[in-house]
Amino acid sequence: MKWSGTVSKGSPVFHRKKLTVVGAGHVGATAALLAAQKELGDIVLVDVMEGIPQGKALDMYEASPIQGFDVHVTGTQDYADTANSDLVIITAGIARKPGMSRDDLLSTNVKIISAVTKQIVKYSPDCILLVVTNPLDAMVYTAKRVSGFPKQRVIGMAGVLDSSRMRAFIAEEMDVSIEDISTCVLGGHGDTMVPLPRYSTVAGIPMTELMSKKKVDQICERTANGGAEIVAYLKTGSAYYAPGAAVVQMAEAILKDKKRILPCAAYLEGEYGVDGYYLGVPCKLGGGGVESVMELDLTADEADALHHSMDAVKSLVKQVDSFGHF
Ligand code: NAI
Ligand code: 2OP
Repeated sequence: MKWSGTVSKGSPVFHRKKLTVVGAGHVGATAALLAAQKELGDIVLVDVMEGIPQGKALDMYEASPIQGFDVHVTGTQDYADTANSDLVIITAGIARKPGMSRDDLLSTNVKIISAVTKQIVKYSPDCILLVVTNPLDAMVYTAKRVSGFPKQRVIGMAGVLDSSRMRAFIAEEMDVSIEDISTCVLGGHGDTMVPLPRYSTVAGIPMTELMSKKKVDQICERTANGGAEIVAYLKTGSAYYAPGAAVVQMAEAILKDKKRILPCAAYLEGEYGVDGYYLGVPCKLGGGGVESVMELDLTADEADALHHSMDAVKSLVKQVDSFGHF
């Protein structure tokens, strides 16, 4: 058998999307596999640990004939292999152990995010960055400062995870399908996050009309402690299945230009009375990244809670600025 014809190299009419995942640990590897299963594009997995991204990527690729996903998955230590990525998910860094808050990770992870972002920008100057590493609101701020990218192209993942947890808890409480539940969680990705029961619905009906205030408060509290609940079980690290799924939902919205309304850590310039910081707010997520921010009408109590959460983010960002990595 012979092939005939030639393909002109370097100028394809269409090209596959390219997705890089930095950090081949729990969240990164989970996200890479889920993104491959959705055929979001060819995937490059990067990690400082020699052999780990190569081994995990090959293992995933070897699953593709069984699962029927038709994308390449490769692993590397060399950022040249990530060149011209359309989207880059950053999960590199250390994760929480019992007794640690997300904020305890700050000084180590800010160095890692700075180093990773410089390499990514060098090889993929037009990409969109999705940051996962904690403390999230401060790390996505770091990536924005280091990259110099416009705000639309540097986005943090937290709200999709937090609102998914809240959906799961409501579904469990009411014994209904998760499909009929929509929730809204604003603010920083920490203990001060702001679940909004008024905007959280079951088949369009606010949860506040469907259960007692005590139950609503319990679900909100469990949502805010959702990360710690998993850490307490795992003991050696933090959650990764739901976080991996959350960041892949954001990646899909961008790579398929779906214009989904999802809660993202977005850089605010006046919205919600915040200027120059990242905070979790509902955004329109499409091919341009964060294409717009949706401003909800908040009650005085909700606005107070959001500003309290903003204060927590500001104190972390102040520490980041004091490290002088920019
Ligand atoms: P992990 O420890 O399993 O994986 C982290 C990986 O990053 C490791 O493989 C490590 O070798 C790699 N790494 C470290 N320095 C690097 C560098 N300079 N370049 C490339 N790779 C590097 O941790 P896991 O569970 O995957 O969590 C990753 C991060 O994501 C943590 O900071 C965690 O707190 C955060 N996280 C954030 C969530 C959110 O909602 N925003 C949810 C879950 C986790
Ligand atoms: C979580 O919420 C650790 O931020 C991570 O599970």
